[in-house]
Amino acid sequence: MYDINQIRADFPILERTVYGKPLVYLDNGATTQKPRCVVEAITNEYYNTNANVHRGVHFLSQQATELHEASRETVRKFINARSTAEIVFTRGTTESINLLATTFCQSLMEEDDEVIISVMEHHSNIVPWQLQARLWGITLRVIPMNDRGELLLDEYEKLFSPRTKLVCVTHVSNVLGTVNPVKQMIATAHAHGVPVLVDGAQSIPHMRVDVRELDADFYVFSGHKVYGPTGVGVLYGKENWLDRLPPYQGGGEMIQHVSFEKTTFNELPFKFEAGTPDYIGTTGLARALDYVSALGMDNIAAYEHELTTYATRRLKEIPGMRLFGESEQKGSVISFLVGQIHPFDLGTLLDRLGIAVRTGHHCAQPLMTRLGIEGTVRASFGLYNTKEEIDVLVAGIERVRKMF
Ligand code: ALA
Repeated sequence: MYDINQIRADFPILERTVYGKPLVYLDNGATTQKPRCVVEAITNEYYNTNANVHRGVHFLSQQATELHEASRETVRKFINARSTAEIVFTRGTTESINLLATTFCQSLMEEDDEVIISVMEHHSNIVPWQLQARLWGITLRVIPMNDRGELLLDEYEKLFSPRTKLVCVTHVSNVLGTVNPVKQMIATAHAHGVPVLVDGAQSIPHMRVDVRELDADFYVFSGHKVYGPTGVGVLYGKENWLDRLPPYQGGGEMIQHVSFEKTTFNELPFKFEAGTPDYIGTTGLARALDYVSALGMDNIAAYEHELTTYATRRLKEIPGMRLFGESEQKGSVISFLVGQIHPFDLGTLLDRLGIAVRTGHHCAQPLMTRLGIEGTVRASFGLYNTKEEIDVLVAGIERVRKMF
């Protein structure tokens, strides 16, 4: 059973007040709050098991290594990867994409080759490709969308050419909430012999993800968006692709043997993990994945769907309300503008009422250009939000609207 009161009690921060008002935290797309069990797992490791991993013969080092590798297995299971060799720990989605962009373009692309991305990508799935495009003379091609915020799949199909080497697309838009049909898009790309990177930053906290069912070649996400700690994330890659890529950074962990003449590299996934990994962070991430797994990803998805449907209906009752992103398949993100009120003003005044929302371009400026706006206010829901909190948001917007 989905006991929302019990769930909320797991998140101590939800009890605090802001400006004397109960906190209404609706900025889960930016980061999520942490359940007590995650914080305790981190504290416990620092207090009792802290030692560097993969290095020491001593007891603590071995125990820390076991914890770290058990966390990798938890991630593998969570996304149903075939092997832990396919789970590379990174600092987060952004680093995962930079790792892939750098190594893929350097080793598997030539001048005039093409990468397909979409108009609704976060900057972290645009700029790393642009940086590489400048170095190697490759071209970005962009999948357009309709006014509901759905990618145009016919246009997508037309973008493929013999020079297409990779497709990079977000699973769920951080602005529009659109859940893209990535399984279908991957099948299309594969029919052209092209691999696909899926940006899972906004999907992993909200739905069951099975990388083998999707047949994704690469899938990336951040720990902090799925109730885990900051500074840790994942790059999943099919072994046959990761094998073909060179190392990203050099240092400890990623080597097999070093001499001044020649260095050989470690096996997967360690080839991509230079330096001391955030082994405390991976413990926190694994605990967070255990937490959401115990609730059930399908239960979380159903609960959040109900919340989003309710919020959409209530927000639409507000005069002057403009929603951005009304796709058939929509996640728990709602972007909006009200009349002529600047999103920053609305966000700031909502904040004084204890309501945390994000305002601005949401690191998706090309999407803002497509929408013909500078920014929005965004409410993004997590597994602990309630309809009462949505009522507080709606009342807050009404109050601000009347002031203007
Ligand atoms: N990518 C995060 C967001 O959309 C930070 O807010």
